[in-house]
Amino acid sequence: EVILPPRLQRRVEIHLGQYISQKPKGMDAFSRSSSNCSIATNEWLFEQPELLTPGEVSMEKIIWRKSQQMQEEQLIWQQSTEGREMMEFRSSLPAYKEKDAILSAISQNQVVIISGETGCGKTTQIPQFILESEINSIRGAMCSIICTQPRRISAMSISERISAERGEKLGDTVGYKVRLEGMKGRDTHLLFCTTGILLRRLLADRNLKGVTHVIVDEIHERGMNEDFLLIILKDLLPRRPELRLILMSATLDAELFSSYFGGAPMVHIPGFTYPVRTHFLENILERTGYQLTPYNQIDDYGMEKMWKMSKQAPRKRKSQLVSAVEEALKAADFKDYSAQTQQSLSCWNPDCLGFNLIECLLCYICENERPGAVLVFLTGWEDISSLKDKLQGHLLVGDTSRVLLLACHGSMASEEQKLIFNKPEDGIRKIVLATNIAETSITINDVVFVIDCGKAKETSYDALNNTPCLLPSWISKVSARQRRGRAGRVQPGECYHLYPRCVYDAFADYQLPEILRTPLQSICLQIKSLKLGSISEFLSRALQSPEYLAVQNAIEYLKIIGALDETENLTVLGRYLTILPMEPKHGKMLILGAILNCLDPVLSVVAALSVRDPFLTPMDKKDLAEAAKAQFSRDYSDHLALVRAFEGWKVADRDLAGYEYCWKNFLSVQSMKAIDSLREEFYSLLKDIGLVDSNPTIFNTWSYDEHLLRAIICYGLYPGICSVVHNEKTSLLKTMEDGQVLLYYNSVNARDSRIPYPWLVFNEKIKVNSVFLRDSTAVSDSVLVLFGGGISEGVMDGHLKMLGGYLEFYMEPATAKLYQSLKRELEEFIQTK
Ligand code: CDP
Ligand code: MG
Repeated sequence: EVILPPRLQRRVEIHLGQYISQKPKGMDAFSRSSSNCSIATNEWLFEQPELLTPGEVSMEKIIWRKSQQMQEEQLIWQQSTEGREMMEFRSSLPAYKEKDAILSAISQNQVVIISGETGCGKTTQIPQFILESEINSIRGAMCSIICTQPRRISAMSISERISAERGEKLGDTVGYKVRLEGMKGRDTHLLFCTTGILLRRLLADRNLKGVTHVIVDEIHERGMNEDFLLIILKDLLPRRPELRLILMSATLDAELFSSYFGGAPMVHIPGFTYPVRTHFLENILERTGYQLTPYNQIDDYGMEKMWKMSKQAPRKRKSQLVSAVEEALKAADFKDYSAQTQQSLSCWNPDCLGFNLIECLLCYICENERPGAVLVFLTGWEDISSLKDKLQGHLLVGDTSRVLLLACHGSMASEEQKLIFNKPEDGIRKIVLATNIAETSITINDVVFVIDCGKAKETSYDALNNTPCLLPSWISKVSARQRRGRAGRVQPGECYHLYPRCVYDAFADYQLPEILRTPLQSICLQIKSLKLGSISEFLSRALQSPEYLAVQNAIEYLKIIGALDETENLTVLGRYLTILPMEPKHGKMLILGAILNCLDPVLSVVAALSVRDPFLTPMDKKDLAEAAKAQFSRDYSDHLALVRAFEGWKVADRDLAGYEYCWKNFLSVQSMKAIDSLREEFYSLLKDIGLVDSNPTIFNTWSYDEHLLRAIICYGLYPGICSVVHNEKTSLLKTMEDGQVLLYYNSVNARDSRIPYPWLVFNEKIKVNSVFLRDSTAVSDSVLVLFGGGISEGVMDGHLKMLGGYLEFYMEPATAKLYQSLKRELEEFIQTK
């Protein structure tokens, strides 16, 4: 006799249906859409006697009851011992003092910008304030708050933290969703996700139906996805007037965002950190007393070119040492740097001291300093893994009974991730080697010492030559301050910057936003898949819009690879590529690999290219390392070498054997593990979109045709091609845009002076002084003609012209003839279709 609102009727029906073991009508349809329902579970409803008295029950009443229950649960938790401690901690955070100001700004404005120092409680507290204030209001159980994070690891760790603060299980009120992983339930009201996940959600749900608050965190990083999301949200706000948008930044550049959103109000949270003593390079050397001796041997990296540190510096010679440092600093002419441009800073390379200095500093801290964790900022995954490998062999730092050595980077597994937050046992010093992920989005509480190498891996983009550059480049002043700030969290700290003060003075204030310094292919594809209209018109509405030429290059590229047709619409291939969360060229390889039943090696290639180079080149064993790599490279392909190296590891992968294999072959164990798990990820993605059937035997066959694999690689990497021109002694490499190019020093193709193929396809070109190609595979004319470019019909014609242009530009007469006839055949083929 209870009359339920229509939305709940079906649920109760289903409940009863299950109860009496019958499937009620319409159940299938219901269960498909049930994931969006978060109001009440029917089980819950049956436990609420006052709602189930005869008569009419309104939706409001149910929501109100649910909110009341959530409130009661929180009160009970907050009165428990643990809950009290949590509340004490939470209320000690600077954000807590601004709670009322923040909530009232949010209630009165559609967009609010909040800034505050890292660690002041933005990410963990503000979403909770909103949640709590909603629960305390009548709408409570209706709210759905989405908070985006630039990285998976922070979405996962923050949601876990908040659940702990609320005394709940992760996935109840607070959950997370990242690519291929997630913990959320029907009652999840606060969801942390990566920015990419929210963009994907917009694909299916353009108005974000049911979402009450969107929080975009870490906007100061100015990542591509975040800038992209802001354009979409700006469009959405007038359509959803009740939706609230909150932007959070760790730096004080809030005005820019405020004016983008028509003068949205800003709330600043004044922060507190303990004082941090700052040591620049000149002070470090003095402080540690390490001896500097001139080092004459010059190696490829330019590392240690100037000095070598020697550990056993007798104290009495210290003053001499200091003057030696001064001498060296003067010789390198740092004094003038402040007057020069950012670019000229590249002459001063921190790698000169690099790993050795870090190693010495770590020893110094372990031996002489008070307890506390050390956080080392490095440029990227490659550096982290090679430094980690190096330190593991060290007498003191590698001693696991005294030091806990950990890595912290974006693609880390959850298991590994937990370790960095844990406090080690007394007497053990935690050392975390991190990328700039630890700069703002992750807080490791017990850090007392910070070592900052001064650089970060950053992509930049030369639109004129259509050449992306990925290089460790100098960080900005803001980043340097952020890094320093990580030291003063629990007690006064120390920060060691591995560069002289005058270099710091010449840093730029802020980093350029990613949208201005990366190729735009992936974002253009996303614009199309979200049906956001014309690419260039859409991008012109960005916070800072990219150059015209950069946009045109991206569109042109997508047409050439067959993802867009002539009128800028997605092709079938393009649609598949938008589903695969990787660069289009790698997506193409996977698709063709799956279609041609040659998936296994392609999975290894794409996974290996995503983790960067697994081949290590320790400086003192360069020859041995190269010889080891040469065993894997019989056939002029870096990609095939990667596949073989991985397969060898997979065969040996039994604990020690796997390590031994990597050790012998100069491979990074971490990279191998990462490749392994990425392969699984990619495979299940392809299964989801129906490109492979779930027969696992296909996945595990390691017999494949190497020629076919080469062709698939070519299909993916085109138009990244360069011609091989032979002269008497060597092979010269040329691309159409750059003229002569060189191979990156560790390419297998760089070992041979004569490459017996007419073409190389390459994964990446990087401009330093000259243009360098990274990861290349040699291919023949016929492979290039047949597999270069898109296979979709619409673009075939354009593709042929393009390819023709390339070929006619370089081709020897015999090849030209072959090409002409193939071209005619293909054209006829298209016409008959
Ligand atoms: O976002 P913001 O940098 O302002 O700070 P937060 O991530 O909200 O962190 C606030 C405080 O919570 C930090 O100072 C940490 O001490 C603590 N926290 C923690 O103990 N464990 C976590 N997983 C995250 C934060
Ligand atoms: Mg934060």
